[in-house]
Amino acid sequence: MALLLRPHLRSFTAVVILQVIGALAGLAPLLAVAELGRTLLAPGPADHAHAWTVVIAGTAGLLVRLLFTAASSGIGHVLDGRVQLTLRLRLAESLGRVPIGWLSRRRTGELAKVVGEDVSAVHPFIAHAPGDLVAAFVVPAASLIYLFTVDPRLTLITLIPVALAIALVPLLMLPARTREQEAYDAAMGRIADSVVEFVQGISVVKAFGGGERAHRAFLTAADDFVGVFSRWVRGMSAIAAGMQTALSPPFVLLVVLIGGTALIGSGDLAPADLLPFLLLGLGLTAPVAALGHGFDDLRSAARALGRIRDVLAVRPLPEPARPRPPQGHRVELRGVRFAYDTGHEVLRGIDLTLEPGTVTAIVGPSGSGKSTLVRLLPRFFDPTHGSILLGGVDLREIGGRELHRQVSFVFQDVRLLRASVADNIASAAPRASREEVVRAARTAGVHDRVLALPRGYDTILGEEARLSGGEAQRISIARALLADAPVLVLDEATSFADPQTEQAIRRALTATAGERTILVIAHRLETIADADTVVVLSDGAIVERGSPADLLTRDGTFAALWRTHGGLPPGEEPR
Ligand SMILES: Nc1ncnc2c1ncn2[C@@H]1O[C@H](COP(=O)(O)OP(=O)(O)OP(=O)(O)O)[C@@H](O)[C@H]1O
Ligand SMILES: [Mg+2]
Repeated sequence: MALLLRPHLRSFTAVVILQVIGALAGLAPLLAVAELGRTLLAPGPADHAHAWTVVIAGTAGLLVRLLFTAASSGIGHVLDGRVQLTLRLRLAESLGRVPIGWLSRRRTGELAKVVGEDVSAVHPFIAHAPGDLVAAFVVPAASLIYLFTVDPRLTLITLIPVALAIALVPLLMLPARTREQEAYDAAMGRIADSVVEFVQGISVVKAFGGGERAHRAFLTAADDFVGVFSRWVRGMSAIAAGMQTALSPPFVLLVVLIGGTALIGSGDLAPADLLPFLLLGLGLTAPVAALGHGFDDLRSAARALGRIRDVLAVRPLPEPARPRPPQGHRVELRGVRFAYDTGHEVLRGIDLTLEPGTVTAIVGPSGSGKSTLVRLLPRFFDPTHGSILLGGVDLREIGGRELHRQVSFVFQDVRLLRASVADNIASAAPRASREEVVRAARTAGVHDRVLALPRGYDTILGEEARLSGGEAQRISIARALLADAPVLVLDEATSFADPQTEQAIRRALTATAGERTILVIAHRLETIADADTVVVLSDGAIVERGSPADLLTRDGTFAALWRTHGGLPPGEEPR
């Protein structure tokens, strides 16, 4: 809450003060009616002048209430808009600094929800809660003061319904109720999960059958929910009904009338004095009931705020205070260890030097940590132990911008922007001319495909056209080529290792060769055979390294991989 309001303290105070004045002014007409009754019904000749003053005061109060609550609500909604904008800007800024690796595909959906829905869910906190709270406390307090001046005894009697409702509150907090509430929330969550699972798996279910099984998970969750829900309702309903009855207008009127009649009968109260209690007594309970209705909104707003705070709390990769420029572009990994959040160590002590002007190929079984290793070079994550040096400088001491100028990458899971093909290719080199973009696309082997799109290089991806995985990867190769960074990291996707993409990668490698430092994860032996050095990774450690020809004659892991995947007779020289 403080997080939200600190920058807008002045408008927020204005909202609350205007609301307080408006709410108090709203009492004026009621008080006027009560006062009028007392004046006109009083024994003796009526005091007309006083009556007119009361009428005018009541009307004025009505106008003031109208003006002030309208102003408060107006400012409140503007404030709400500003708070949401601030929150979204802060989220965007924070997301710009989180480790790139943190932004996995799974998180994209969650983040969209946080930035969109969750920020909107804060609305009742800002725009409605102040008004509701003020109404719930200031109005009854002012009414009580007035009623006390009329008759203290009847005031206490009028408070009986509120006291009854409050007495029931502790019953809602009993451990059993809390447990039921938690079970209810959990069961609700299970239903949501099973629905999501079912919907996400529909295509698989359609293709492979098993619809019943998927369906069953949902049915179980739903059955389960029915049980939990009825327990919850049973526990809650008696208490809730009791509270609602206590706060309901008929009950309040009944209590006031019984008490009032008794007092009038014993001559302790003037009949006209019963009027203010009938008018204002209802006002004592209505806001409390309204507060209960807003409670659910506030609860989900609080949960949404929690999720927003979690995203804002993700620690960014620290930027160096005094960045050092790298000297050259030799890459050295020294005793690099790395574990994801899960804690399992994926890289277990990697020592590796990538010389400028050479191509190093990483091979190894699926899950051995190849992609993880290359993700460390553009600093998607920092190593948990050890260090990576570029041109003799630790990556952590190189400024983020500088690092991204030095290292360009093509990764397994290519993500393209919802922008034109040309803008996608030029995203790392916005000043590139159309000729340069086309040249990069030609080298990457997508030029012909792009020309076949509805509007060629101006086609908006994701809107006017969808690309296949291999095509998307070739676009991302073109992007890396155009970025023209001295260090190139290429993680070829196994699934897109079609001959065309493979060719694109090899052409990219020869086109960029020269003084560049290149690290490539390849699945095709042709690419591997072109490399200067091959590194074999197994379970997070380097088990073999050397030139492709060397490794083949050594007849170790690499030779075995070569035989199974390449189908070449053992010992045959790579082409
Ligand atoms: N974002 C992540 N969070 C947690 N664990 C991860 C993450 N990415 C990968 N892993 C785990 O790290 C290990 C190595 O994964 P990695 O993607 O580096 O393997 P790989 O050698 O590239 O495999 P492949 O050849 O299939 O692409 C695997 O056990 C994987 O489950
Ligand atoms: Mg991989």
